[in-house]
Amino acid sequence: MMRKLFLLLALLLFCSGCTALAPEPTPVPSEEPKQTEEPDYRLVQLQSVAAFDETKLEEYLQYYDLGPHFVVPLVNQGIVNAENYERLLELSHDPYFLVSRASLYLEHPKETVRATVEFVNADCYKRPYEDAVENDPGKGIYVQANKYYHFPDGYVPEDMVPIEAKYGVQTSLRKPAMDAYIRMYEAALAEGLDFYITSAYRSYDKQVSLYNNYVRNDGVAAADRYSARPGFSDHQTGLTVDILTSSSNFATFENTAEAKWLAENAARFGFILRYPDGKEEITGYTYEAWHFRYVGDIAEAVKASGLTYDEYYTYFIRGE
Ligand code: DAL
Ligand code: ZN
Repeated sequence: MMRKLFLLLALLLFCSGCTALAPEPTPVPSEEPKQTEEPDYRLVQLQSVAAFDETKLEEYLQYYDLGPHFVVPLVNQGIVNAENYERLLELSHDPYFLVSRASLYLEHPKETVRATVEFVNADCYKRPYEDAVENDPGKGIYVQANKYYHFPDGYVPEDMVPIEAKYGVQTSLRKPAMDAYIRMYEAALAEGLDFYITSAYRSYDKQVSLYNNYVRNDGVAAADRYSARPGFSDHQTGLTVDILTSSSNFATFENTAEAKWLAENAARFGFILRYPDGKEEITGYTYEAWHFRYVGDIAEAVKASGLTYDEYYTYFIRGE
């Protein structure tokens, strides 16, 4: 009996020692630690968009993946809904998507997103000539001339200079285009190439007689594929040259070393190939390997973009 009592006592003593050595129990917090309130970044971004409308917040959040700058105007204009949301999302990923043209993209679907945006941005959804607007003189050397932009009546470009006989046809060009052409020509000559200007500035009246001739020979539909109607010609800008070599004509020029050199190098001198191969639906004209348009400092950017000038102009110059 005494022995049992002793053992119990020893056990008790041992255990109290253990307790003394045991680490203090971590206090159980009486309540969950307070979470610091994260501001909803989507809300912050949406509110930074000028046309943000508090009453439409739910819809903005529903279609938020379009991005705050697209979703606000699209919802405000009542363009986005459950049915077209996925399509708009695809379209909005195109680098040249313009929110101002979103409903036009939906109305004129092409095989790919890029083709859709390209078609609409280049104004091809309009009726050529009939829906054309007057071009903007404020755009200077970036001025647009195509089937959707025409010159005002009686337009004659400023700062025209005569073309010297050694460069080709003795008409005229605007001075910045002439100067740039001479630099380009000298560079080509230095590489053993040679070419000449076969057409440059063309007045409205000149275009009347050319176009009427083409129509007489080929009919309206065919003529419209390769000739501008009066008032719509890139040549009326005074910034355009048609270039040939002495041994080529319009049908064969594209195979010359000069054509290849120009396609590669003209942008260094401020010229772009205005009607590229395979872009008739967009430019409105068949491939013209000989037709170069002066646009100055943006020529390299136009070339690098791979866009036609019709689309480039809408996205970068017109401003929407
Ligand atoms: N050949 C071009 C399109 C013009 O007539 O201006
Ligand atoms: Zn031309």
